[in-house]
Amino acid sequence: MVLPILIYPNDILRGKNKKIKDPQSSETKELILDMLETMEASGNALGLAAPQVGASVRLCIIKLDGKTHILINPKISARSWKKEISEEGCLSFPGKFIPIKRHQKVTVKALGKNGEEIILRAEGLLARALQHEIDHLDGILFIDR
Ligand code: CO
Repeated sequence: MVLPILIYPNDILRGKNKKIKDPQSSETKELILDMLETMEASGNALGLAAPQVGASVRLCIIKLDGKTHILINPKISARSWKKEISEEGCLSFPGKFIPIKRHQKVTVKALGKNGEEIILRAEGLLARALQHEIDHLDGILFIDR
């Protein structure tokens, strides 16, 4: 089911998001499917975080280079010292693109959709998308950066 995307300002975008205790629950599985459909419907979105569809849990999805990353309870465990600036958009800010400084590389630990542990070493656009989406899970929006 395609879910409505919350547009800024909205309290849920600034709220706390809970850790997912059971990645395999039917509730989580349904949310993942709905978020995938919602991203599909939104066109060329790179990423979507659960709070953007009104679900206050720590889950985000990134689609890049034909790969779909489903990340449950993601955490940045390492960041490069080097940063770079590039323009970013966000589905919760239609039409808004602003240059944002981000770490050039990050390492992210998370659980996958089957509850498996994932370690993602990313750079460039994927590293940027990870930082943007994980920020959402902490109620941080790109306009804050
Ligand atoms: Co966003």
